[in-house]
Amino acid sequence: MLFTVNGEPRTVRAYPMERLLDVLRLDLGLTGTKEGCGEGECGSCSVLMDGALINSCLVPALQAAGTRIVTIEGLAAGENLHVLQQAFLESGGAQCGICTPGMILAAVSLLNAKPTPTVEDVREGLSGNLCRCTGYGQILEAVMEAARRRIVA
Ligand code: FES
Ligand code: FES
Repeated sequence: MLFTVNGEPRTVRAYPMERLLDVLRLDLGLTGTKEGCGEGECGSCSVLMDGALINSCLVPALQAAGTRIVTIEGLAAGENLHVLQQAFLESGGAQCGICTPGMILAAVSLLNAKPTPTVEDVREGLSGNLCRCTGYGQILEAVMEAARRRIVA
């Protein structure tokens, strides 16, 4: 199938019902996208598909054909981290890191829709993403800080 991943056209041989998560990790080596539950509950496998946040463990390759996918590897510009990556790093919003790529992509999706979110908006925007380590406080702080920096930038 042919699709665009992080701005590059990519062709892979995949079974139609192969999970997009496996295509990304195993066929393309993009292991930043994580598997948590494997059944649509935790958000660890979140990526953007044509700008919408999706759980890649639930999307078959067939459905991803012809789309534009953005994974965590597509956010930094060379050595420069994305504002959300930097804010997560500084606030301690990433600990074991399993939820982090999905959290950051959920936050990208949220800030694209609501550039000046309230804490409640952030809570709601990240409600599909579970974290077992941080207690969520640092994650909320990171997203609010990234929103502030984007306003200033
Ligand atoms: S691994 Fe996809 S939602 Fe948990
Ligand atoms: S940092 Fe470990 S699950 Fe969130």
